[in-house]
Amino acid sequence: MSTSFELNGSPVTVDVPADSPLLWAIRDSLGLTGTKFGCGIGMCGACTVHVEGRATRSCITAIGQVAGAKVTTIEGLDPAGAHPLQTAWIEAQVPQCGYCQSGQIMQAVTLLADFPDPSDADIDAVMNGNLCRCMAYVRIRKAIKAAAAGMRSAAHA
Ligand code: FES
Ligand code: FES
Repeated sequence: MSTSFELNGSPVTVDVPADSPLLWAIRDSLGLTGTKFGCGIGMCGACTVHVEGRATRSCITAIGQVAGAKVTTIEGLDPAGAHPLQTAWIEAQVPQCGYCQSGQIMQAVTLLADFPDPSDADIDAVMNGNLCRCMAYVRIRKAIKAAAAGMRSAAHA
C-alpha cells in the first residue's frame, strides 16, 4: 500500500504496509539515516522526528498515520545544519557517541517552541524521555539554554 506525505518540504510516497513504522520508511525507503533506531518501543527518543511540528517517536508511529502530514527529520531542520540548537550543540560540544543526538535536538526544538526561556524543570520535564547512554545531559541542558537565549535575542533584534 502506498502512503504519501511531505518529508522535509518535499512530497514523498512510500509503498509499504500502512502499519509499518514511520522510522523504517524514513531510513530504509527514503534513505535518511539521521533518525536513529534505539529501543523500538517509544522509550528512548532516538527516533524523534516532527509530525506537523511536534516531536513524535517515529518507531511507534505507523506510516499510515502520517498520510498527508508534514514530517521533518534532522536533515530537514535547517538547510545549512545551522539551526540555533545545532549551532549551540556544536559550541557546547554536546555529542559523545552521537547516537541519541538527532532525537535530542528534534525534541529540544519543540521544547523551545513551548518554553522560550526554559527552566531546568521545564527541560527535565520535556527532555526526560530522550535517553543518552553517554550521559551528556549537563551539556544538553547547557546547549538548550544557550540556544534559547540566542533565539530570544534574535527575536528582539
Ligand atoms: S527508537 Fe523510538 S523511542 Fe526508542
Ligand atoms: S551521545 Fe552517546 S547516546 Fe547520547
